[in-house]
Amino acid sequence: MTRNFPLSSSTIENISDEHASLDAIGEAMADPYHPVKNPNGILNLGIADLEYGNPIGSDELRKSVSALVNKKFNPDSPIDPSMVVVTNGVTSAIDKLTSVICNPGDAVLVSEPYYASLVTDVNLIAKAVVHGVPVPPSEIQSPSQIKYYESKYNELSTLGITVKAIILCNPHNPTGKIYSRPAVEAILEFANKHDIFVISDEIYALSVYRSPSTENIESFIDSSNSHSDELYPFESVLSFDNLNELIDPRLIVVVHGMSKDFCMNGFRVGWIISPFNSDIIKALAKISPFSYISAFTDRIVTNLLSDEEFIDSFTNTVHQNLLQNYIKITTFLLEKKIPYIPSQAGHFVMIDIRSLILVWKNNNLKPGESPISSIKDITFDDEYQLWIASIKKGRIYYSPGVNIKANEPGWIRLIFSQPWEPLKLGLEGLLDFFENDSSV
Ligand SMILES: Cc1ncc(COP(=O)(O)O)c(C=O)c1O
Repeated sequence: MTRNFPLSSSTIENISDEHASLDAIGEAMADPYHPVKNPNGILNLGIADLEYGNPIGSDELRKSVSALVNKKFNPDSPIDPSMVVVTNGVTSAIDKLTSVICNPGDAVLVSEPYYASLVTDVNLIAKAVVHGVPVPPSEIQSPSQIKYYESKYNELSTLGITVKAIILCNPHNPTGKIYSRPAVEAILEFANKHDIFVISDEIYALSVYRSPSTENIESFIDSSNSHSDELYPFESVLSFDNLNELIDPRLIVVVHGMSKDFCMNGFRVGWIISPFNSDIIKALAKISPFSYISAFTDRIVTNLLSDEEFIDSFTNTVHQNLLQNYIKITTFLLEKKIPYIPSQAGHFVMIDIRSLILVWKNNNLKPGESPISSIKDITFDDEYQLWIASIKKGRIYYSPGVNIKANEPGWIRLIFSQPWEPLKLGLEGLLDFFENDSSV
């Protein structure tokens, strides 16, 4: 029997409905006449002189995106422009995908800690709900994490909640870790077993600054750090040559974009790649006219992505800069004896400030509160109060662990992809504030 993976009810309606006039207007916008480039295109006597552009991205842009993916993500079979839908950022990509895949109330599993905005990205429009899977940092790169997924799945099934998707963020925000191949394979097999879609968020795919092949990495690895520093090469799910053995590939969708790897988050350009499920592409095309990139952005990004030489040199520079700052920030942390989770990709590092929270808490006790003597007594509320004070009084912002669903209180995420001087100023200011802020 052929398996069937229902998309959301609104999607089923959208793609079965005729919407003939909408489709015809869409075609007119997507295929405009040009005397040289497109003499068979549609002559426009209906829409005033503006260029609306193609809501799923121009043919040229989708060609450039496919070329980028074919070159940098090493797909097992080539990605074709018809498998790509351009969106205004990965936030929009995730929103649109959840609207297409999930019904209101459906669960989306995400490994904790996670990129905090996913909660609203899947919920504000699609009304799907993120359910965190508490995977300890020590297991995030290992297939052993599946037991936490199974247990969350069973818990939700008992409550009658349908688990419809997993968002797998690889390279991982906020830990900066890369999943091992066996770990991703185990997640795909788990998803396949329960008919769950996998949205592989590969937004940091080209921001890997340490890998098993990086030279001289030993020189700055701290052997006393209790967190493991297993380095894996990044492998896109699109590159798996055994994908068919692990999962029905129709359940796989990849998202990527300009925000991180090209340092262009304000441009608002992302894309969805659905190589094996054309219904998802059809459904996205239906809803794309409501929010899409401008024709001008489309042209600029097409030009940028078409310049392969520039992309190679730009990504190399990004890797070098990220590596240099990673070395600087971890050296700083080691000197100050602040534990951190070693990372290999992305723009951030998670650090353990429990002993600093202990000092701050005891210096800022509220009336009736007793001093605490152990980091085990720190709560998420203490961490939250310190975060608010750091912004309001210390004038320094960071991501608190409570927002990114860290497994225990006291872990925060710092962004290090910025010039060293303000970064150093921020780090020193933060430590000074933690140690010396006192309400008494
Ligand atoms: C893991 C992850 N996914 C998605 C996004 C959203 O990206 P965009 O800026 O393209 O909307 C971010 C942004 O920080 C991210 O870290």
